[in-house]
Parts: sequence; C-alpha cells; structure tokens
Amino acid sequence: MLNTGIRAVDHYAPEKIVTNDDLSQIVDTSDEWIYTRTGIKQRHLSTGEDTSQLCIEVAKRLLEKSGTSPEEIDLIIVGTISPDYATPSTACLVQGAIGAVNAFAFDISAACSGFVYALSIADKFIKSGGYKKAIVIGAETLSKIVDWKDRSTCVLFGDGAGGVIVEPVDKGGILAEDMHSKGEDGLKMTGNERKPENMLCTPESENNPYLVMDGRAIFNFATKVVPHSVNEIIEKSGISMDDVKYIVPHQANSRIIDIVARKLNVPIEKFYLNINEYANTSAASIPIALGEMSEKGLLKKGDKIIVTGFGAGLTWGSMLIEW
Ligand code: ACO
Repeated sequence: MLNTGIRAVDHYAPEKIVTNDDLSQIVDTSDEWIYTRTGIKQRHLSTGEDTSQLCIEVAKRLLEKSGTSPEEIDLIIVGTISPDYATPSTACLVQGAIGAVNAFAFDISAACSGFVYALSIADKFIKSGGYKKAIVIGAETLSKIVDWKDRSTCVLFGDGAGGVIVEPVDKGGILAEDMHSKGEDGLKMTGNERKPENMLCTPESENNPYLVMDGRAIFNFATKVVPHSVNEIIEKSGISMDDVKYIVPHQANSRIIDIVARKLNVPIEKFYLNINEYANTSAASIPIALGEMSEKGLLKKGDKIIVTGFGAGLTWGSMLIEW
C-alpha cells in the first residue's frame, strides 16, 4: 500500500513582534513571570492579516517550493479555531486565492491538535488512491479571540501559520498515528461561545467570546497524555526511541515539554522548541516548527520524527513520520 509523504513544508508569521516587556505595559505581568512559567519571550501578532491571509501565504510558498501548479491540488484542509468566518471555510478562501480549481476544501476544529488531526485526515484521502496532492495547514490569529485584559491568558498566545503538501510515496512518510479526544473535559478550555438567541429564546448569561481555560487542568492533562501517546507510537511501529531523531511537540509551555521529556526518559535536546519566539500558536505551532527545522537543514531524507499535538476539546494526537 502507498504511504503519504511530505513533499514540502513552510511557515509564515506576521512580521510584528510583541515582547513580554511590551505586554507588561498593558497588563500586570513581567518578562520574569511569563518566561519562567512558560518559556515564552515574544510572540508574532497580526496587524490586520486574518487567518486566511496567513494560510494563503503558506500555500503559495508550498506551491513554489514543490514546483506544484495549483490545478494539481486535490484537497485543502485547514486546522484552525480562529477562522475569518464560520462560513466560508478558511480552506475555501485559500482555494479561491491560489486558484486550486480542482480541489475540495474544508476546515477542521481541533485546537492545538488541529494540524495533526488535519494531516491524519489527508493521509486517509491520499491512501484511498483517489487523491494525489493535498495541502494541509495549521493557522491561527488567536490575538483576535484573546481577552487583552486577562493576564492569565493574553501572555500565552501568538499568531502564525504553517503547512505541508502531501502526496503518495512508496516508502517512508506517515508510518503510524495515535489519535484521541476527551469531550467530557471539553469545557476546561473554551473560545468564541455562541448560545442560541432568536425570537424564541434569550441566553441566560452573556456569551464569552474569548479563550478561557483552566490552565492547571490543561497542564496536568498534557503531561499525562503526551508521554503515553508517544509511547503508543513507538510500540505500534515497532521502532525504538533511539530511531527517532526529533520529537516535535505542540508548543504550549516549555515546562510541559520538560516534564514529558523526563517521563519518557528522553533528553530534552531531542525535542524541537521554539515557544520562546512564537508563544502558543495552537494549530500552527507544529507546522511552524517543521518549517523552521526544514530551513535549518535539521530534517534529512530518512529521518524519523514524532509530532505530537494536544489541547482544547480535549484533543490529542501523535504521528511517526519518516521524512
Ligand atoms: N503575570 C503575572 N502573574 C500571573 C499571570 C501573568 N501573566 N497570569 C497569572 N498570574 C498569577 C495568577 O493570578 C496566580 O496568582 P495567585 O496565586 O495570587 O492567584 C499566579 O500567577 C499563579 O497562577 P497559576 O495559574 O497557578 O500558574 P501556573 O503555574 O499554573 O501557570 C499557566 C499558568 C502558564 C497557564 C500553566 O497552567 C499552563 O501553561 N497551562 C497549560 C496551558 C496550555 O497548555 N494550553 C494548551 C491549550 S491551548 C489550545 O488548545 C488553544
């Protein structure tokens, strides 16, 4: 059976950088608090670009890098919780902008696991044999759904996008996956709430449009499920941890990654971290990391990496990919 291989990877973040010191001018916080609790030093924030625009830039870069014409694309999936609109989907906006006239396009909502979920879906379409090339993007402008008066959340998030073009390969590519959700804990993190409101009903309380989370609960959840999921991948694929060159985790908090590394008994150097530069970009964090790694020449043909996403939903998922 054919596998799904990654043909090209790229990323894009808004130019404007906002440091922890900049944030300490608008909320009661400090660089010291933010850095020691999270590993974040700065984040890229939109000065007007919406999620679709970040995606379109990534898609154009992917087409150029891989020498692919837009007409060759069969499928576009965008993982995001901060789309421009409920409809049209961000993916349809990308399709229109790049002229991928033969593609079908849709968004998925899985928060910080959005890219891994989207890649898992694209993998099944490619493996079906009916689709040859897919663009998969994780993208967010979280700055538009963050409460800039709430210091417990506004310091944590950033804007950006990253993505891949995938296609059938004879060898390597996506070798194993481990995907999960835990909806019963879903309300531990919410965003963009919309209650029914019409001629027949009025909400009893106001909608909360912002990202709201029980940070400690999410922290505990992540440090429990991520090591388990990575171990599942190792077991399912019959490889050893020594065969894995990098683990590329969702970049939510460097302390989460430290604990995951300790639980897995893996040196922290095996984890790719860039949270200091981007903060938590939710669905975008893994493809941004992959884009940077590719640029730095860290990913060579035949390298095995594990990507692992976790976040609101609750959702989590990991994949073993041979580059
Ligand atoms: N600056 C200064 N003080 C602050 C700030 C801030 N920005 N934010 C909170 N504090 C204060 C709190 O008010 C609290 O003060 P108190 O003790 O007087 O009440 C104190 O700092 C400690 O707060 P805690 O919440 O206990 O801090 P904690 O060590 O848990 O760190 C954090 C908080 C960073 C949010 C952590 O819990 C975390 O990273 N959780 C995981 C978040 C995550 O991974 N989310 C991923 C999902 S994102 C998605 O799916 C889109």
